[in-house]
Amino acid sequence: MNVKQLAAEKAVEYVEDGMKIGLGTGSTAYWAIRKLGERVQQGLKITAVATSRASEEQARELGIPLVAFGDVDHLDLTIDGADELDGRLQLIKGGGGALLREKIVAMGSTRMIVVADESKAVETLGKFPLPVEIVPFAWEWTVAELAKQGCKPELRRSGDELYKTDNGNYIADCRFEAIASARELAMSLHGIPGVVEHGLFIGIADLAIIGKKDGSIEIVEGESNL
Ligand code: 5RP
Repeated sequence: MNVKQLAAEKAVEYVEDGMKIGLGTGSTAYWAIRKLGERVQQGLKITAVATSRASEEQARELGIPLVAFGDVDHLDLTIDGADELDGRLQLIKGGGGALLREKIVAMGSTRMIVVADESKAVETLGKFPLPVEIVPFAWEWTVAELAKQGCKPELRRSGDELYKTDNGNYIADCRFEAIASARELAMSLHGIPGVVEHGLFIGIADLAIIGKKDGSIEIVEGESNL
């Protein structure tokens, strides 16, 4: 049983003819895009905006009609994965490095469904190092400022090179262990010059679809829906 596939395919059931869809990034979003591709081949009419080059390539290969974010006035639904989610549907995202585009696309959507396997569900966010996208200029200073927030930041690498996002920036993975207030931390991070965006998604996800090893699915409503 592939639990990521289970959750992702359930989310695709929420997609209807005529919708404008945000396509997430990562190994769970992959299954959602694959299923969407199948439905498009069966006649579903949608347009989509991708959150990364990888998702764009996958969607193009499957024949999903793609448009640029600037060419749509809004998106109806974004389906994306997460690295961690808590009971209030606060998320850590960016393990795949696409957090900036993912946040823009999710916030530009009427609804966001997060798809995950049960290992991603946590009581307190922070075991997963929080990805923070930073500009290359003076990155050493920005990383030192991040450390003052009470974390151990580590610049992400890709082999021998520093990892670069689709936007040409770096990622600092910030190990907090436990984030007491995601909302307060989010505000502090935005106060640091050099920080482009962080992977805390607060009040953005409307629904979580969580696949479980026993083959069941748990559906959790976000606070905005309660
Ligand atoms: C990419 C992301 C992904 O959604 C997140 O890393 C989860 O990935 P996966 O589904 O592969 O576990 O935020 O930037």
